[in-house]
Amino acid sequence: MTQGIWSEECYIYGYYLESRKHISPDSGFPITLHPKFNNKIKDHIPPDPPHQERVAAKDRGSFADPEKKALFSTGAKRIDLTESLGTVLEGIQLSRLSPQQLDELALLVNERGVVFFRDQDLTTEGQVKIFEHYGELDRHPSQKDTRHFVIRGSTQDHREILKYTPWPSGDYHADTSFEINPPSYSMLRMEEHPEVGGDTAWVSAYGLYDTLSDAMKKFIQSLHAVHTSRLQYDTILDLWSTNPNRPPIDTHHPAVRTHPVTNLKALNINPGFVTAFAELNKIESDKLLDFFAYHIHSADDHQVRFKWSVGSVAFWDNRCTVHRVIPGSYEAPRRGIRTTVFGEKPFYDSMSEGRKEREKRLKEESAKQNTVVG
Ligand SMILES: [Fe+2]
Repeated sequence: MTQGIWSEECYIYGYYLESRKHISPDSGFPITLHPKFNNKIKDHIPPDPPHQERVAAKDRGSFADPEKKALFSTGAKRIDLTESLGTVLEGIQLSRLSPQQLDELALLVNERGVVFFRDQDLTTEGQVKIFEHYGELDRHPSQKDTRHFVIRGSTQDHREILKYTPWPSGDYHADTSFEINPPSYSMLRMEEHPEVGGDTAWVSAYGLYDTLSDAMKKFIQSLHAVHTSRLQYDTILDLWSTNPNRPPIDTHHPAVRTHPVTNLKALNINPGFVTAFAELNKIESDKLLDFFAYHIHSADDHQVRFKWSVGSVAFWDNRCTVHRVIPGSYEAPRRGIRTTVFGEKPFYDSMSEGRKEREKRLKEESAKQNTVVG
């Protein structure tokens, strides 16, 4: 959950955008949206090279018992928040899970998109250790600590910010989806939080695929989405007062990706980082992106919203969800610790299936079997 709304250094988000200082006397609005008003980013030389492609280790969810007996032997209570995604696990401390239970938890996250915990005694060190179990720790382009990222809150309205910067920093995204190996898992643990405000919403990318028409499914399966960090790169020095570690990167990922553990299809498009479709011309791309912004923002039946408190943890799968913070105007500090791990390079397997398609197939197979038995 790195996008926009938080940073390590810039607590008051957006007030200091350089473009606020360059206002047209005729309209009263910024002369240009271009963030390179800020000369510092033009002169900035990122100290690190771009991430190179890597072969991620086999996902820990693949090693799990599908029934998750070890995880639930703890007496953990599972509460599904919506039909499509989001589960609360009660009566469990993440700090005490065995490697086998962590694998089963990964599978639950693969299936439910995001799993929530409250009143956790987990420390930053413990959180890092859990994530080392899940893979190689990733590092956000503006992350200073090599192991975790500090997420802060904002009282700014992200829609207002859009007058001053072209990066839709508060919109739905999958964390750093522009990387060659975008993060598979993210975990955010809240250390400080206001009583009200700062909620986060997730939308199921399985559901976003399922609810397309057959014709649209067929069409977008042939496309690559252009995921870019360029707008973020140009903006964050000004917006977050933090220099990017790596140069900007564009990647062409399949617009529909296959989840490596569930083998389900998920929409791989998000308004935060996707700026085009590689195979289409600009006008076609722009119009299609408009549609997907609407598709994601109107997916009420595939959305879950979480109210944070100190000690709450959200553990999500970036391959089958997108998320955003809900804009607000709270005043108390909001501070969380986020960890991520590198995932596989996104791929599309035409033999994989949608979640609804699978449910239908299994139902038909079961009915056929019952008929034969009967
Ligand atoms: Fe994020």
